[in-house]
Amino acid sequence: MTDQSPLQDEIKRLIKSTGPMPVWRYMQLCLTHPHHGYYISRDPLGREGDFTTSPEVSQMFGELLGLWSASVWRAIGAPPFVHLIELGPGRGTMMADALRALRVLPPLYQALNVHLVEINPVLREKQKATLSGARNITWHDSIETVPAGPSIILANEYFDVLPIHQAVKREGGWHERMVDIDSNGQLMFSASTDPLPRFDVLLPPLVRAAPVGAVFEWRPDTEMMKIASRVRDEGGAALIIDYGHVRSDAGDTLQAIAQHSYADPLKNPGMADITAHVDFQALGRAAEDVGARVHGPVTQGEFLKRLGIETRALTLMAKATPEVSETVSGALKRLIDSGRGGMGSMFKVVGISDPNIDTLVALSDDTGIEAPTS
Ligand SMILES: C[S@@+](CC[C@H](N)C(=O)[O-])C[C@H]1O[C@@H](n2cnc3c(N)ncnc32)[C@H](O)[C@@H]1O
Repeated sequence: MTDQSPLQDEIKRLIKSTGPMPVWRYMQLCLTHPHHGYYISRDPLGREGDFTTSPEVSQMFGELLGLWSASVWRAIGAPPFVHLIELGPGRGTMMADALRALRVLPPLYQALNVHLVEINPVLREKQKATLSGARNITWHDSIETVPAGPSIILANEYFDVLPIHQAVKREGGWHERMVDIDSNGQLMFSASTDPLPRFDVLLPPLVRAAPVGAVFEWRPDTEMMKIASRVRDEGGAALIIDYGHVRSDAGDTLQAIAQHSYADPLKNPGMADITAHVDFQALGRAAEDVGARVHGPVTQGEFLKRLGIETRALTLMAKATPEVSETVSGALKRLIDSGRGGMGSMFKVVGISDPNIDTLVALSDDTGIEAPTS
């Protein structure tokens, strides 16, 4: 990729006039700058784009999430109206597959009001085309404008694009990681001059003992708190699927992806996807802080197997040509396997519900992954 990002000049201008900016602000500009933000100006998905997500790997993913949504609807007493909300719906593929699966349940299908929370105008157009046959769809810039009422909320690879803060440990304490300009005029990482006040007290115990040079990252809890407060007050549940870790720990996971390869996050801002792993322990803590119930996390492979993905694959393969059958088998492996290229264990799934729901389908505590101890 060549150095041609219009956002780069703007970021340098900002740094020259107001000083180094926190990684959080840099990531926010790269992803959502009103003109040059990565998620404002393009459809990044698929083979011709920069990355491929689970719904784009196979229809089985969205279908099973549809069935999981039906189990939540039953768990909350099969209300006559329910909001089905997707955060960051990409091309609308997952919602289209989920709705197709839900057609077999007319009382639920009739009860659904679908809400898509999407800031990307290019993707909104794709969603409109993908979902052209579906009824009752409303688009939102934020979950806050979705009307009150029982809700089922789905979010696949949404949290990883929400900006993170990073702090780096020095001899005298933790300093916010910043983006600055080096002596050659290139963007570089630096750290705030003063340490973050009383930061040690806020850190998870595992991280307090981290060595000098360690990086700790965190996302503001606001988005999870909005989701958790909604299901607590209105009834229902949310399903968050993303790559990340089950225990809050030190580590620098900021990464840029362009054309299916890793890129330098400081090169060509706005032209590559910049993401960071999701800290599932922090998500769960934020949800519990507002009084919601947390289910899991479990690995994506375990979650999909519990929902019956292997049987679904066999059904699809039984009716398919040898070529299609091979594609289904490859997609199944990619979604549930743990080895190289597999999304089965790198991706985790957590449920957040109204505290009156004791269990959520496929999310019992028997996770196959070690539970956080702190
Ligand atoms: C990594 S893509 C995942 C797309 C889709 N969920 C999938 O699995 O194919 C992130 C999605 O979140 C949307 N997005 C990014 N930042 C957002 C924000 N602040 N608010 C709402 N949507 C956002 C993007 O436009 C895109 O639809």
